[in-house]
Amino acid sequence: MSDELALHPVREDDLPMLEGLTQDPEKTGEFQWFGWADLQRWRRGWNENSLISPDGGTLIVTRGDQRLGLVNWRRRPPTVATYYSWEIGIILLPEARGCGYGTQAQRLLTRYLFAHTTVHRIWAGTDVDNIAEQRALEKTGFTREGIARAIGWRDGAWRDGVIYSLLRTDPAG
Ligand SMILES: CC(C)(COP(=O)(O)OP(=O)(O)OC[C@H]1O[C@@H](n2cnc3c(N)ncnc32)[C@H](O)[C@@H]1OP(=O)(O)O)[C@@H](O)C(=O)NCCC(=O)NCCS
Repeated sequence: MSDELALHPVREDDLPMLEGLTQDPEKTGEFQWFGWADLQRWRRGWNENSLISPDGGTLIVTRGDQRLGLVNWRRRPPTVATYYSWEIGIILLPEARGCGYGTQAQRLLTRYLFAHTTVHRIWAGTDVDNIAEQRALEKTGFTREGIARAIGWRDGAWRDGVIYSLLRTDPAG
């Protein structure tokens, strides 16, 4: 079995894992649990475009025949503008966390996006208390830009976020 991480387009039999990663509070992790809002999201996206479009996409993180979780990217602003950036995200299965895979998977995703799109800026936001994601982004080469106050609602309160970016011209870009 290969120890190398890889990213693959979603297959239909990945949909239950994607639903678990976003709709099962035991699997989302405390920073990605926002309640049940759109249970058909993955099935609808699958039927529409197999979860890849010019405005973003979702890929499965794998290691050999193991599935470890998802990475995704979204066009910001969400219109076809002359200048756009990608906002990226990641959720690994609980058993895949803390092994360095979050860093490797985000490195693969940023390389993929710089190789196959003309984007100059890739960015990510995460909860100020999500130290694992902040460290993973820093190890991927992202620069911490600052705090976005009250950027997201989670578990009964407005939460501050940390914004990170990676430019094509950065050393890891
Ligand atoms: C956040 C996430 C992607 C990080 O990936 P990971 O593979 O678990 O992290 P890594 O193993 O690459 O570790 C990155 C760093 O975080 C540290 N870390 C890992 N888990 C940690 C924790 N629970 N608390 C503090 N630091 C932690 C590691 O020690 C490492 O730092 P180091 O190299 O200085 O020791 C992953 O944990 C995850 O999917 N979490 C749930 C969903 C989530 O929060 N997604 C991000 C939403 S913005």
